[in-house]
Amino acid sequence: MAHARTTGSLPVANVQALAQTCKDSDQQIPERYIRADANAEDVISMNDSTAAIPTIDLSRLLDPQSSDEETTKLGSACQQWGFFQLINHGVPEDVIRDMRKDIAEFFRLPLETKQTYSQLPNSIEGYGQAFVVSEEQNLDWADMFYLVLRPGESRNMSLWPAHPPSFRNSIDRYSSETARVAGCLFEFMAKGMGVRPESLHERFQDQPQGIRMNYYPPCREADKVVGLSPHTDAAGLTLLLQVNDVPGLQIRRPGDDDGRWLAVGAPPDGAFIVNIGDILEIMSNGKYRSVEHRAVVNPDMERISAAVFHRPCQDAVVGPLPELLGEGGGDARYTSMGYLEFMKRYYSAKLDGRNHLDGLRIQPSSQNV
Ligand code: OGA
Ligand code: NI
Repeated sequence: MAHARTTGSLPVANVQALAQTCKDSDQQIPERYIRADANAEDVISMNDSTAAIPTIDLSRLLDPQSSDEETTKLGSACQQWGFFQLINHGVPEDVIRDMRKDIAEFFRLPLETKQTYSQLPNSIEGYGQAFVVSEEQNLDWADMFYLVLRPGESRNMSLWPAHPPSFRNSIDRYSSETARVAGCLFEFMAKGMGVRPESLHERFQDQPQGIRMNYYPPCREADKVVGLSPHTDAAGLTLLLQVNDVPGLQIRRPGDDDGRWLAVGAPPDGAFIVNIGDILEIMSNGKYRSVEHRAVVNPDMERISAAVFHRPCQDAVVGPLPELLGEGGGDARYTSMGYLEFMKRYYSAKLDGRNHLDGLRIQPSSQNV
């Protein structure tokens, strides 16, 4: 499946094992992980409740009594924040509990067992890292495990872990449930954008979906490393689950002139953190925002998260929805291209804030040329 195979990453050391070695032998952290600028920027604390991301209630979106009001709230969350937490999403508690338990257990397996699922060359699918394009590049303090979940025929079952034994089933159930939630959100997001409710569905048909499980080992010098470099997600929509209770996600607060980072606390139990990806920003012609975010590392505790990415179908055009352009709409603010070309560009560079997305913007001055 081309969405996972577009480009691979250079192989790097296993960070979980490296962290253990550094700890046991009191060894320095290798130079490539030290990020001079890592924590130089201000962070708004998550105790500042005025700074919290909005909360959207899926049961209120689905209830005819409250749907319009909640859709308006959703639209403004997507426009102003690009991030929100989603409560009452209807995913059964046991599905989330099993997923959390199995992911945590997978990362506890011996290295040799985990490496049975290592990434194959030229693929980001499997256990390893992504976005490493040069031997000089600084590295993130984390390991990743990426799997294609949907469409079903794209699954590479040889990479789906046989341990813990319930893992495959947990992933399968989690995949169906999150696809259902994303499908609902696409409908209400389209409404909030002022286009036909099916507009996004048509482009995200069959719900291509992938999961990235992130493992951030503790690091004594946590303030010198970065768990996941600042980036925007390429996908349409991301549903993030904190697998354990250790916070670490930070977002570049929209509208903050100083561009400070905002620490996103652990959401209420079982809630998802949802964010708009580049593709949805582009399809909305800039109305919805794909916001830069990163993950920081804890000095004492491991942190685990799982991001499910929802992507358009392979033959979809990544460009502003035609319904938003022309009379009453306006000019296209982004270059359109095929989905595969778009993803190839995303994976062929290191993560670098909004660089990828900004590169696709049409500058107002060039629009009349
Ligand atoms: C991601 C991501 C954040 C986190 O996987 O794209 O942004 O908190 N993860 O792990
Ligand atoms: Ni992300």
